[in-house]
Amino acid sequence: MSVIFRNNTSSIIFIVLVIILISCPPIQTKDDPFRNAKAIGAYDDGTILVEVKDSLRLIYPNGTPHSIPKIHCKKKCHYHLLNPNYVIITYDNNVGMIIDWKGSKILKRFKYDKLSIGEKNDKFLIMRHNEFTEYHIEHGKIVKITNSLHFDKSHKEHKEHKITEIFSLDDAWGITISSEKKKSFFSIIKTESKSKTLTTEELEDFAGPSKCITKNKNNDIQYYCLYRTHTHRLKLVNIKNLSLNDNTFDLTSTDLFQSDISFETKTFIHIMPNVGFLVEATAKLNPKYYIFNIFEIDYFDPNNAFGEWIINNNDNDFIDDNIFILPNNKAIQIRKNGKYVNDLSSKIPENNQYKNTHIKSVPNNVDIGTTTLKITFLNAITSTTTTAANISIYYKNKNSNEIILRQKLLCKKHCTISDDDYSLTIDIPKITFNMPNTTYYVEIDDDFVKYKYDLITIPGIKKENWIINTPDYKYSNEDDKFKLGNLRLNSIGTEEFDKLSDADKDYFSDQMRIELSKNIPVDYSRIKINDKKYEFDMTLGVNLYKFLIQIDPPNEYSDNKKSTKQVFEDLNSLIITSQNLTTNLDYNNYTKNIDKDYGLKEASDTLAELKASLNNFIADRRYLIIIIVCLILIAMLYFYGRYKNKKGTNIIVFKVALIIIDLINDIRFIIKLKTISSGLFIPSVLFLLFPFILNVFFAIAIFKFEIQNSINSEWFKNYIKPVAIATILSSGDIELLHIFDSNFGGFKIFSVKFSPKTLNLIFWGGFLNIILENLPQLVIQILYAINSSSGINDVTALFTLIISIIVFLVSVIECSYHIFMNNKNENHVGIHIVERDIKH
Ligand SMILES: *[C@@H]1O[C@H](CO)[C@@H](O)[C@H](O)[C@H]1NC(C)=O
Ligand SMILES: *[C@@H]1O[C@H](CO)[C@@H](O)[C@H](O)[C@H]1NC(C)=O
Ligand SMILES: *[C@@H]1O[C@H](CO)[C@@H](O)[C@H](O)[C@H]1NC(C)=O
Ligand SMILES: *[C@@H]1O[C@H](CO)[C@@H](O)[C@H](O)[C@H]1NC(C)=O
Ligand SMILES: *[C@@H]1O[C@H](CO)[C@@H](O)[C@H](O)[C@H]1NC(C)=O
Repeated sequence: MSVIFRNNTSSIIFIVLVIILISCPPIQTKDDPFRNAKAIGAYDDGTILVEVKDSLRLIYPNGTPHSIPKIHCKKKCHYHLLNPNYVIITYDNNVGMIIDWKGSKILKRFKYDKLSIGEKNDKFLIMRHNEFTEYHIEHGKIVKITNSLHFDKSHKEHKEHKITEIFSLDDAWGITISSEKKKSFFSIIKTESKSKTLTTEELEDFAGPSKCITKNKNNDIQYYCLYRTHTHRLKLVNIKNLSLNDNTFDLTSTDLFQSDISFETKTFIHIMPNVGFLVEATAKLNPKYYIFNIFEIDYFDPNNAFGEWIINNNDNDFIDDNIFILPNNKAIQIRKNGKYVNDLSSKIPENNQYKNTHIKSVPNNVDIGTTTLKITFLNAITSTTTTAANISIYYKNKNSNEIILRQKLLCKKHCTISDDDYSLTIDIPKITFNMPNTTYYVEIDDDFVKYKYDLITIPGIKKENWIINTPDYKYSNEDDKFKLGNLRLNSIGTEEFDKLSDADKDYFSDQMRIELSKNIPVDYSRIKINDKKYEFDMTLGVNLYKFLIQIDPPNEYSDNKKSTKQVFEDLNSLIITSQNLTTNLDYNNYTKNIDKDYGLKEASDTLAELKASLNNFIADRRYLIIIIVCLILIAMLYFYGRYKNKKGTNIIVFKVALIIIDLINDIRFIIKLKTISSGLFIPSVLFLLFPFILNVFFAIAIFKFEIQNSINSEWFKNYIKPVAIATILSSGDIELLHIFDSNFGGFKIFSVKFSPKTLNLIFWGGFLNIILENLPQLVIQILYAINSSSGINDVTALFTLIISIIVFLVSVIECSYHIFMNNKNENHVGIHIVERDIKH
């Protein structure tokens, strides 16, 4: 493009100069200075050619004016640009000549039937008696190429063909032809074509005018022509695959408007280099300017909706061929009343990702829970009478790439047009965008709005063109457990469900479960259907089928990391939203009859929750197997002890197991408190740590004392290792040391005789354990169960509590028994002494 027009400022100055110069007193009469000024166009170097009265004036890019000596025409002169510095002058009687800027004649008098200036003003073509001559300037000299073209005479219909217009294209000649049957045809030939016989293709409903342009992108040369039809529409024609051998080509055409635009007067089509076409027309008494950017936008793609710029001119200007386009692609318009010069370049529609150039912008990122979407348009809009245009929002599943409908809503009901008429706001339910880091698509039906000042309805946005992404979100590690809720079938659904066989009912439930998970959306594994039964609805007076839904917490593999509470709320809103809007639930046989008024109701049934929890627990085989194996081992150990030595305190096996389980339980519970950062964590740790230290203290004291005791020193020397291990374990509960004097299985290791002092210490240690560990831990667990939202309705929580209670009760009973025995027999400290006294 021209070096002169580097930026907007220089072109604005230039435009202003145009006005000043045109209104110069020496040039102008005393009347309206614009009355007789007519811009012819701009040369490649930016020089403008203006016709004022009957003379020609040049305005150089630096603003200097220059007059071209007057040429006398017998009748009216018509002027055309020819680059780099020539003017073609034609007279009304089909005679032409070429002059240069000094007014010297370069080419004298040539006669023609038709004349066409090349699309880039770099050559021109004339036709005379089926002989075509192209003129162009090479090194300041005129070069002439003449060809004699003809139609294939073997076709009868070709005999009546008459050439109506010719186009000098970049490297070819385009020709429009009419037949006596009022049909129009198109033909195209390259200058270097081997055959001189023209091939024709019909132009549908051709009325003219028309213009053609060459699009050469990546060496793929295609031609586009734009014409007006008899029904006042604009048709765009694409020509490609032009053969050099036989002049054949492929021609396709498309309407540029969906509806009748009804131009009232003349239509002017201008070429915009490297853009396409600029069309001037009037409709509803207003001048309209439509720019078709064929270099950028694929107008043949049915999924592509295009836009154009429309002036709503309240000056009610007459329309005339009054636009010319500067080499830098700025379009300048000189108005009859001289009020302003208009720069159209910023109005060129660009291709955008939503493939709808009527639309200026749409959001591509929204937050989770967004309730509005705003579309901004290029031109003022208003609502249509169309009532069925829907807006559909889809969700794309990351793993399966499946595209699932979330909401479908009628624009009529949910769209609001802004006060300035340039934007549209769509109300959407909060549930629509409910997943983080996810892709959504919005699809809009055609005719959802129309132009306020025009008879144009705006096409919609086709599927997958408008992409919306949601931001990432990290869900916190809550104390999460499964949640139960009930949903219901409506009466139609209940009736249909009733008819199914039991196997089909199960299949139905499972499909419903899958559909629900897909639509929430949540991993299939997190949704279960536990139960289904009738429920009597008081208001309706009918029995309806109710399903107990279980929502499980996320695990590390879950795509949806939302808590059970959030998933519950999502499902509930999804069902309730379906009351008024279409969702995917409505399209599926297994979910369409869910009772939408009922939604998803929380099931506050502790028994059902325990049952579900037990099912969960049983379903998780690992734990079950470990527990059963442990129980069997303990039982075997007990019977083995009994078999070996009936008189031993074999029951100690259970006591030891209980102490170990209690210790594991306490630690697990503390870890749980830590993960949910509960306030009970610190007290819980303190009440585990303090007795622990105390127990270690006791154990060491006992062993120190016993080693010094001569009776037991031999035994201690033999069993120092197991005793050391037991000492560490006994920090959980000092009473564990009783395994050594339990006489279990009659083994020597288990048959030490502790001194009364040791027994005393163990007894008091055990007592302190109750006070400082078991009781506080039990209290903490009960406090937790009362305060926590999840309570004790799952099996692990229940199990923990039960173990704590058992340990506590066993310890208390044991302790009371010892105290009781102590009182009865002053000499005896504990049950073990009593036992041994009996034994020996
Ligand atoms: C026409 O051109 C297109 C590419 O523009 C090509 O794909 C197609 O095969 C061509 N058709 C013929 C008949 O040559
Ligand atoms: C819009 O959705 C409604 C309800 O689903 C449907 O009845 C109507 O046909 C849809 N409109 C179009 C144009 O598809
Ligand atoms: C967001 O999604 C993309 C792909 O869908 C994934 O690669 C990325 O890791 C996700 N971001 C986070 C933080 O999970
Ligand atoms: C559905 O529409 C009805 C009537 O217009 C209204 O009362 C109800 O609140 C709406 N429901 C939802 C979930 O918006
Ligand atoms: C839903 O049921 C109807 C009739 O029972 C059947 O024709 C249709 O294929 C079913 N649709 C789906 C998605 O299963």
